[in-house]
Amino acid sequence: MEIINSVEKLKSTVSALRKDNKTVGLVPTMGALHQGHASLVERSVKENDATVVSVFVNPTQFNDKKDLEVYPRTLEADCRLLESIGATYVFAPSVDEVYPEPDTRSFSYPPTDTVMEGAFRPGHFNGVCQIVSKLFMFVEPDRAYFGEKDFQQIAVINAMVADYRQQKAAWAERLTICPCPIVREADGLALSSRNTLLAPEERAIAPAIFRALSESVAYSKSHTVAETKQYAINAINAVDGLEVQYYDIVNASTLASVSLWDEAEHVQGCITVFCGAKPIRLIDNINYK
Ligand code: PAF
Repeated sequence: MEIINSVEKLKSTVSALRKDNKTVGLVPTMGALHQGHASLVERSVKENDATVVSVFVNPTQFNDKKDLEVYPRTLEADCRLLESIGATYVFAPSVDEVYPEPDTRSFSYPPTDTVMEGAFRPGHFNGVCQIVSKLFMFVEPDRAYFGEKDFQQIAVINAMVADYRQQKAAWAERLTICPCPIVREADGLALSSRNTLLAPEERAIAPAIFRALSESVAYSKSHTVAETKQYAINAINAVDGLEVQYYDIVNASTLASVSLWDEAEHVQGCITVFCGAKPIRLIDNINYK
């Protein structure tokens, strides 16, 4: 496995692979890797001749400076894990390497990027689109892998790629976005780099989020969307130390809220919960149909 720090070296490496007719998978990450990331990399290794994993804590997607400061950074351990599961290249650039000058591009794909995380973290998805589009342009991958824990992020990235396809960007035309299932701890907590920030007593209550979501799926069979939403919110808020920031039940493609179960073919519940005193923001989601 080779560690690459410069954009120029990354571009020349992937263009040599392409000349050899090799397929390239890209797994964008912000590091602090866990088994959820490992599952994306393992899938890419199976499906492509070479796999590039980017490890870059992207400042433009943090609307909260403190959140950026405390975001865990564990590059050495990340590289050990990536080597053990067969990644070919790690792209670990500096901020100046990726943003030699401020990125002033703005992306807008309502409602996917304006609801839920988009409403509570203004500018977040613009930053995600900035970095992900740059990575796509640097690597021009055949496939890119994203975890479904960030369900809304995948919808926004799909909208961005569709937009670039309309503009006939060659990299967008060849690219397939591959969503990958959430990986959970045995007690149901969705794996997240932020879980390492939880104190033991916070870690102990966090599984109540997925428990409530799972129970709400059974409840939904005989209740309305509004009742189901309230059921999940009440169950989580009843746990001391947990507070729901938002819970919405949405059309899984457009992310627009639904009020009737048969309003969309696929319906997803997306939640953000504050956990503990700091607090740590945990997100999760569940499929209703
Ligand atoms: O999901 C993440 O970790 C980040 O948002 C991503 C896609 C790596 C962009 O920085």
